[in-house]
Amino acid sequence: MGKDVIVACDFDSMEKTLAFLDRFQGLGRKPFVKIGMELYYAEGPQIVREIKKRGHKIFLDLKLHDIPNTVKKAMAVLSRLDVDICNLHAAGTVRMMEAALEGLTRPDGTRPLLIAVTQLTSTDQAALEQDLWIERPMDEVVMHYAKNAKAAGLDGVVCSPLEAEKVHASCGAAFLTVTPGVRFADGDVGDQKRVMTPAEAKKIGSDYIVVGRPITAAEDPVAAYERCVREFCD
Ligand code: C5P
Repeated sequence: MGKDVIVACDFDSMEKTLAFLDRFQGLGRKPFVKIGMELYYAEGPQIVREIKKRGHKIFLDLKLHDIPNTVKKAMAVLSRLDVDICNLHAAGTVRMMEAALEGLTRPDGTRPLLIAVTQLTSTDQAALEQDLWIERPMDEVVMHYAKNAKAAGLDGVVCSPLEAEKVHASCGAAFLTVTPGVRFADGDVGDQKRVMTPAEAKKIGSDYIVVGRPITAAEDPVAAYERCVREFCD
């Protein structure tokens, strides 16, 4: 898979999501869709099947984190749903990530891509030290978790666009960086703190950008999506 724009469909129902995706019919390119916890917990696996049936690639963003055996079995279920990318928390340990990969791998040897969340971007240095008792600088922790993900055989990490270059430098150019926190130069930043434009994300080597509100809340979502594709992929 090459560089692509992943549209975060952060809606609370199947009806709203499909109505949104209907607007993209007729476009030469089918948007890669991210389904997060809200939509998945509201609609269950049927939402994945519906969107897949319409020909979209799917990043199922459920961020698994449990004992290795449970994650392995859950990943086997997600793999049968035929999604394209799944994820988990690297904090679950290398053993958990290895078990996840095993669960995800189908009998014919194929599997969805598996990427790890290193540290959530909502966790700051103070929370890292006071809540998690991790007394290391955040960027060292992020790189350590990325290396653990690589050692476990994963395909990449979700990270801030500002970390993508460093992740590639320490884990190799082929290790995928999937980066949210993307905004147009003339757009609203909203609650995202560290943002980049699609063009900047391309320059620093992000493999996939995850874009939500700049597309979903735009007056013309299709035009906003096409602008992302132009700036990031072309
Ligand atoms: O609307 P916006 O473009 O901010 O949406 C970004 C998407 O990426 C949301 O679905 C959000 O949950 C997700 N995300 C993020 N930061 C992370 C991980 C995921 O914004 N570190």
